Amino acid sequence: MGSNRLKLGVLVSGRGSNLQAIIDAIERGDLEAIIALVVSDKKEAFALERARKHGIEALFIDPKAYESREEHERAVGDELEKRGVGLICLAGYMRILSEYFVNRFRWRIINIHPALLPSFPGLHGQKQALDYGVKISGCTVHFVDEKTDHGPIIIQAAVPVLEGDDEDTLAARILEYEHKIYPRAIQLFAQGRLEIEGRRVKVKRAPIHTWAVANPPLEG
Ligand code: GAR
Repeated sequence: MGSNRLKLGVLVSGRGSNLQAIIDAIERGDLEAIIALVVSDKKEAFALERARKHGIEALFIDPKAYESREEHERAVGDELEKRGVGLICLAGYMRILSEYFVNRFRWRIINIHPALLPSFPGLHGQKQALDYGVKISGCTVHFVDEKTDHGPIIIQAAVPVLEGDDEDTLAARILEYEHKIYPRAIQLFAQGRLEIEGRRVKVKRAPIHTWAVANPPLEG
């Protein structure tokens, strides 16, 4: 039954709380996908441990072992392809992907960013929002294109900035919403409900079997 599910490859660099949210959503039955592989560019990433604890294969692929960024990405891409990955989820992966990788997996890479894009792309989105003085920040799940934190947006959540917030308190509040919207966006992809039209992502209606369960025919 699990074998025809969407296979995910999750790329990580750090603690992996978004990876954990994806794992939990799958285990709860809210996300119809399986994680085929987790790849880290950092040996000490706690995300690797989280994956292994759940019986998920997890590799450290050392960028320093390759001549160039593209060579490293080729190795990562080969491992993902070998396992039949259909969607690559960047979850705190702190490397900018080259055009080579983006083209190889065009519209099959998504990312989560801790700000309401197009505001505050790049590093420390939460601090940028605080420093700018916005009253509302949030998080964004988007398809990845060749520009950083730029591709078509799938889901966003708005999160208030409160009096007395510092980078840590704001980041923690935003993170709670990251953990909700990332699995949801992946589920929409898994159900084949996302359609990209230029910069816009249209969310199509639920497939008929889901709709039929939610709206059973009237009897009598
Ligand atoms: C998350 O807040 C994620 O949005 C952010 O890194 C954190 C990773 O946390 N990503 C970026 O800033 C990418 N531009 P996690 O390892 O606990 O999921």
